Amino acid sequence: MKEQLLELEKKALKELAAVGDPGGLEEFRVKYLGKKGLLTGFMKKVGALPPDERPGVGKMANFIKANLSEYIDQARGRMALKKEKRVSFFDVTLPGREPLRGHLHPITQVIREVCQIFSRMGFRIVKGPNVELDYYNFEALNIPKDHPARDMQDTFYISENVVLRTHTSPIQVRVMEAQQPPVSIIAPGKVYRRDSDVSHTPMFHQVEGLLVDRDVSFGDLKGTLTSFLHQMFGSDTALRFRPSFFPFTEPSAEVDIQCVMCGGEGCRTCSHTGWLEIIGAGMVDPEVYRFVNYDPEIFSGFAFGMGIERIAMLKYEIDDIQLFFKNDMRFLRQF
Ligand code: DAH
Repeated sequence: MKEQLLELEKKALKELAAVGDPGGLEEFRVKYLGKKGLLTGFMKKVGALPPDERPGVGKMANFIKANLSEYIDQARGRMALKKEKRVSFFDVTLPGREPLRGHLHPITQVIREVCQIFSRMGFRIVKGPNVELDYYNFEALNIPKDHPARDMQDTFYISENVVLRTHTSPIQVRVMEAQQPPVSIIAPGKVYRRDSDVSHTPMFHQVEGLLVDRDVSFGDLKGTLTSFLHQMFGSDTALRFRPSFFPFTEPSAEVDIQCVMCGGEGCRTCSHTGWLEIIGAGMVDPEVYRFVNYDPEIFSGFAFGMGIERIAMLKYEIDDIQLFFKNDMRFLRQF
């Protein structure tokens, strides 16, 4: 019986040495150690042996069983290691993956471009608070509490007298309050309105401009904005100055550029008019000067405001404003 056991062990070890994969290993285990395995069969027979032989043979069979189990475990470990090595093996001659290089958001790029153009014309860049007093956002811009113009701008109120600024125009007032003319400033920033669809987002960006000095005329306003728009959209872009109304300017104008999508032929973007409204502007209303202690008999000036997203959409021919704020890399990488 003992010889047979030793024979079986020898055979098993020889077979185990030839097993090459986890499937084969499992087959081997079942063959020897499974319920109907060869070694298991032997062990079942131990009980039928004469009592004096039983302990010796039993001990030997258990010893062989433990050994085989141990060898199987070791082989399984070796196989797993080999597999892992195969996975982490890499070809050092392959070219490396190019690291992603970041860049400025398209909105930031347009803000910088607008500011650069006006800086070259001598305008100083200033900022103002996003959380603004009703006084600066409305009151001092000649928009009293019951003024219908307040309905045009769906305001986020923080409290009765504090709002999220609905435009960058309050910065004009803060600047004039702080210094006497001459002033020429450009003020970019975020603005907030309760509005959201393909052409509106509750937060967007504007740039405000203001110039006050002696003898500033509407001609200066026209020349400045014409120069700006030609630098921004190309010197052959046709412009149109239309009469309009803003409570803080008199007279007021809106500036249109020829539609960049259809070249003035008429399309969906320009509602088949051939023109796109791009800037609100005008001569600063003497009422506003009253709030900041400027003498309207001595000084005159112009102001203007424009939406950055709108400029970016026209420049890059984008038809959904929401894209600017979704942070989808497939969109942003294109700029
Ligand atoms: N604040 C205006 C708006 O948000 C834009 C604007 C119009 C600004 C005329 C001005 C201006 O400075 O003179 O619609």
